[in-house]
Amino acid sequence: SGTVPLAVVPGDGIGPEVTTEALKVLQAVTPAGVRFEPTHYDLGADRYLATGEVLPDTVLAEIREHDAILLGAVGGKPGDTRLPAGILERGLLLRLRFELDHYVNLRPTRLFPGVTSPLADPGEVDFVVVREGTEGPYTGNGGALRVGTPAEVATEVSVNTAYGVERVVRDAFARAQRRPRKKLTLVHKTNVLVHAGAVWSRIVGEVAGEFPDVGVDYLHVDATMIFLATDPARFDVIVTDNLFGDIVTDLAAAISGGIGLAASGNVNPDRTAPSMFEPVHGSAPDIAGEQKADPTAAILSVGLMLDHLGLPEQAQAVERAVLDDLAARTPGATRRTAEVGDAIAGRLA
Ligand code: NAD
Ligand code: IPM
Ligand code: MN
Repeated sequence: SGTVPLAVVPGDGIGPEVTTEALKVLQAVTPAGVRFEPTHYDLGADRYLATGEVLPDTVLAEIREHDAILLGAVGGKPGDTRLPAGILERGLLLRLRFELDHYVNLRPTRLFPGVTSPLADPGEVDFVVVREGTEGPYTGNGGALRVGTPAEVATEVSVNTAYGVERVVRDAFARAQRRPRKKLTLVHKTNVLVHAGAVWSRIVGEVAGEFPDVGVDYLHVDATMIFLATDPARFDVIVTDNLFGDIVTDLAAAISGGIGLAASGNVNPDRTAPSMFEPVHGSAPDIAGEQKADPTAAILSVGLMLDHLGLPEQAQAVERAVLDDLAARTPGATRRTAEVGDAIAGRLA
């Protein structure tokens, strides 16, 4: 109970639209005795274009003092030559994940009643991807030589430390142990990426000894695509590196019925810094500003946040309200972003 300082980074494109609805739902579900105190940070494309700032150290230090972060999405309009590639993605989003040590990127996938999966017969889909969030090819360890010449060479080196792999693998095992099916699948490409693959395989094997009741499985990432499309119900907990996890979770979102439904948590399990909750999707410049975005993913991310903050009943209430809202939808009808948020908040009021 008490006051919960919350940093809110609406960001770009549809980010502000879906964040508004997420906060609406948070207000509606907040129990007596608790007060969320949101502080908005105007980080993103507009600030960068106006000031050249992406994430000033002073702002990062302020954000660090909150109990959690709610983020919409970052990323400018395609073809905007004033925005260098990756400047916001790396300088804002990844910097937050790295600096705040969000080593568990949690991305659950399920089917929703009333939502049609593109798969004709998906089965009982309910799995969670534990995506490593601070290493892999995302660290910026690479470079380019002789740029623009026929002799150009570019590298992006994947960083995999025993420390970084072990902590995320142990978290994934612990999650698998708490789930009914108790199954963990390591997804990698150990047949080609032999150095990183050896670290992941060895550590999964070692940590498995501490969780004798968890069944362990391995799939190459390419074969994982086969099974996600043909038998997604086989998965329970997937643990994988930063880049594979990024790709796997967009397909997972599509299987469940759309990217507008996929929630995520960038979790710092040691609680040395605030965790950050955001939809899996991006800034969707193609539909931005039109109230066409589905805010459900952002709202479900609030559910993950409530769980992390020790409010599991409220987390479940958000999930229930979302499920009821989806089940009650009129097939074929389109709703504005705010209408979806109002409907879900209305079920909680
Ligand atoms: P995207 O997720 O923004 O959009 C992909 C497609 O999904 C688009 O057609 C879009 O309209 C649709 N879509 C996304 N969210 C939706 C929603 N809530 N409701 C309905 N439709 C939705 O991915 P992209 O087009 O590859 O990337 C656009 C920008 O977003 C890029 O700058 C990228 O770097 C950035 N991005 C940011 C994040 C993030 O902030 N976490 C994630 C992914 C991409
Ligand atoms: C995501 C996004 C980010 C990622 C980008 C925008 C840095 O695609 O959250 O899935 O690759 O992690
Ligand atoms: Mn992604």
